[in-house]
Amino acid sequence: MSVELESLFRLDGKVIVVTGAAGLLGSKHAEAIAAYGGIPVLLDLSKNTVEEQASQLSERYNVNALGFAIDITDESQVERNAEWLFDNYGKIDGLVNNAANNPKVEESSEKNFSRLENFPLDIWNQDVAVGLTGAFLCAKHYGAKISKNSLGGSIVNISSDLGLIAPDQHLYMKEGLDEEFQAVKPVTYSVVKTGLIGLTRYLATYWADKGVRCNAMCPGGVENGQPEEFLKKVNAKIPMGRLAQPNDYQGILIWMLSNASSYLNGSIIPIDGGRTTW
Ligand SMILES: NC(=O)c1ccc[n+]([C@@H]2O[C@H](COP(=O)([O-])OP(=O)(O)OC[C@H]3O[C@@H](n4cnc5c(N)ncnc54)[C@H](O)[C@@H]3O)[C@@H](O)[C@H]2O)c1
Repeated sequence: MSVELESLFRLDGKVIVVTGAAGLLGSKHAEAIAAYGGIPVLLDLSKNTVEEQASQLSERYNVNALGFAIDITDESQVERNAEWLFDNYGKIDGLVNNAANNPKVEESSEKNFSRLENFPLDIWNQDVAVGLTGAFLCAKHYGAKISKNSLGGSIVNISSDLGLIAPDQHLYMKEGLDEEFQAVKPVTYSVVKTGLIGLTRYLATYWADKGVRCNAMCPGGVENGQPEEFLKKVNAKIPMGRLAQPNDYQGILIWMLSNASSYLNGSIIPIDGGRTTW
């Protein structure tokens, strides 16, 4: 194997912005980037959390990771941060649009707010603001910097298997509860995750002549303390018979960000144990 082939997946020196980096999957994305020699720039709402994460990654992987408290729905914060990174690193190579409001489906003793009939307009606006407007603003400002690289770069949008299929609301049903009290997966989740696929296609063509690739990862659900009853029902819908573990997406992310996927552009990739195949 030639040296070039051996280093196909390396991210040495690449400055890669990860939104929602303090979350369950964002922290795994940032770790994977650092492990492959990249410089993860961790963005999330809490300054202490991202700074602490960045310092741990820098020490463990000997990279210059940085964390910033940035609300991605605020264009001035995003714009200033993109300028700062560009001035200080001289370039930005990648962006992982990962942040989203991740609504837990919870039962309630009141008429359940998650149901379409009750869904509050302000929650719709907040979910769209983070998941879609935030991704647009990051693409606009960090993406524009990536487009100035002589070698281009890679944008990865984190969609979901629920960007490809509708949620099966039977999965969330509790026996003995009247319909109006039953929780559902909110409408915003489907809309935001499907919208990111549109953003992916748009970006994949927009800066293609400048070497900027854009692809969407559509992860399946991650096992994270859900009740046994739910796991039994959802596992039956997945050919591999299980939800994902939080580190199941790290290899795919490295592939999508690195030269190993140099001709991958505009692809919408389900990584869901086969759920959308059935
Ligand atoms: N966990 C899953 O089962 C699963 C499955 C498929 C897809 N996804 C997608 O993967 C991504 C990460 O999911 P997760 O489980 O790690 O979610 P998470 O809730 O653990 O993390 C999301 C992070 O985004 C941050 N965030 C929210 N609003 C923000 C804002 N305005 N500015 C900056 N950061 C903000 C939150 O503080 C949080 O740390 C999401 O896009 C989610 O929809 C998750």
